[in-house]
Amino acid sequence: MKKITILDIQRMKDEGKKITMLTAYDYPLARLFDESGVEILLVGDSLGPVVAGYDNTLPVTVEELIYHTRAVVRARENALVVADMPFMSYQADTAEAVRNAGRFLKEGYMDSVKLEGGGEIVPIVEAIIGAGIPVMGHIGLTPQSISKLGGYRVQGKTAGDAVRLLEDARALEQAGCYSIVLEAVPEPVARTISERVKIPTIGIGAGRGCDGQVLVYHDLLGLFERFRPKFVKQYANIGQISLQAIREFAAEVEEGRFPTSEHTYPIDEDEYQKFLEKIG
Ligand code: KIV
Repeated sequence: MKKITILDIQRMKDEGKKITMLTAYDYPLARLFDESGVEILLVGDSLGPVVAGYDNTLPVTVEELIYHTRAVVRARENALVVADMPFMSYQADTAEAVRNAGRFLKEGYMDSVKLEGGGEIVPIVEAIIGAGIPVMGHIGLTPQSISKLGGYRVQGKTAGDAVRLLEDARALEQAGCYSIVLEAVPEPVARTISERVKIPTIGIGAGRGCDGQVLVYHDLLGLFERFRPKFVKQYANIGQISLQAIREFAAEVEEGRFPTSEHTYPIDEDEYQKFLEKIG
């Protein structure tokens, strides 16, 4: 299979095929996700909570994201790799935003950046795209604005808020974004937005009308128990399986059942005797 591009993502929407996106932060799991056929790997700033253990995404730095992006890019053969631009790497200054977005391509080797925000970030989005860097938008619940939003709340629940969301989606499309994440938006509102923009929408907590779906893999695989939003479906509980395996390892070490001869390296008996003679 050939490497997926932003044109393939658009073609999928045009042909009515659903798009799958999954977070990825490290080499071994990115390899599995790529092999599974997921079209987009997102090196999300969600790595703050789920990998680094921060309370939220705000402390994540460009350096941290580039480090993880490089690992994911090394693992991928087909998927499009998208990296989040972290909080305060693009909001303050347009030139700085372009330089930081460029670092993701030059140092992170990824395909596209994702930025949170609507109409207010259009000049920044235009400048980044103008530098030749594809941009995925992200509206609705935007975790980098968690203080302004007053918590992790569903967005677009009133007619006025829903209109603003549609306007934001249209503004991002007009600015040149090739797709938009819709996070925590009522299903009918997300469906209408998906019908009214030509570019693909990728939903998380935005229902069935979106053109694709994304989940944080720690939620999907049962590796993050601190907080589980309503929209998460856990497909496996790798956390419990890991815990069981690690307990077994610890018990075997304690009881002298690991390692066995099968896990050890021998030495020629003569060499060993000479070694003992040498050390007296
Ligand atoms: O950081 C992230 O993982 C995201 C997804 C929740 C869309 O932005």
